[in-house]
Amino acid sequence: MIVQERIGSVTVWAATLADALHLDAFAAVSVDELERAKEYNSLADRDRFLSGRTLLRHALSQTVDHTTAEDEWTFEIDRYGKPSVAGHLPQLGFSISHTGNCATVAVSCHAAVGVDIEARERNDKQEIIWECLTPCEARDLSRVAEHQQWDRFLSYWTAKEACAKALGLGVAIPFDAIGITLGASPTATVHSSCFTDAELILALTTLEVDATGYRLGVVTHEQKRRLQASEPYPVPSS
Ligand SMILES: CC(C)(COP(=O)(O)OP(=O)(O)OC[C@H]1O[C@@H](n2cnc3c(N)ncnc32)[C@H](O)[C@@H]1OP(=O)(O)O)[C@@H](O)C(=O)NCCC(=O)NCCS
Repeated sequence: MIVQERIGSVTVWAATLADALHLDAFAAVSVDELERAKEYNSLADRDRFLSGRTLLRHALSQTVDHTTAEDEWTFEIDRYGKPSVAGHLPQLGFSISHTGNCATVAVSCHAAVGVDIEARERNDKQEIIWECLTPCEARDLSRVAEHQQWDRFLSYWTAKEACAKALGLGVAIPFDAIGITLGASPTATVHSSCFTDAELILALTTLEVDATGYRLGVVTHEQKRRLQASEPYPVPSS
């Protein structure tokens, strides 16, 4: 199944890996992307990467510019690992996430965007990562009934991942520097002097892409002040 949903100013696409890989845009994946796919040891990781890139090309040609063919999009990647469209579309933001049997892409024509998707079903190996939570979030989570904790933790996690991607920092930002308040209108705040002007708009939802069901976090970032020249977060070594 391929799901397309509008969340605020963002268009989100999500698909099972099989459905993404059957899109016409699969033929548009570049030589560079195919080379990168070969670097993955597991076939599942390779399929997740190719699904994300296929869905991205499909989404960009469908939502941003119908006159740009799926194979005409070219991408660059910055020192934090954030991919962007090469060329002169500074307002265009996109973000990719994949997990299990699903890939998702979020596209905004006006702002930087971050997306994260996680399967709601918990497997035996998955633990709540308490250290990524602020004291306030940890207190909130510990008050919830045990059978509801995983789902609530996924709300925190997908929100923080989406923020890290919208800010373009990925692994470089400590997750306890991102404060999330859950509720009907969830909010995200970055506790860092480098982002005092950052306005993050957070949405949390669920998607039924297949029988599993997924939690989705989407964040847009109106970048009023750019990352300072002396980067506050160490660039991850590759
Ligand atoms: C790498 C990271 C971006 C997401 O990785 P992930 O959850 O393994 O994978 P996802 O599928 O959700 O996202 C991967 C996509 O993120 C994107 N991405 C990578 N670095 C990025 C960055 N700096 N900014 C924005 N997006 C980025 C890429 O598009 C990538 O997809 P691609 O390789 O197919 O192009 C990063 O946020 C991460 O690993 N976070 C976990 C950090 C953590 O564990 N913190 C400690 C908590 S206590």
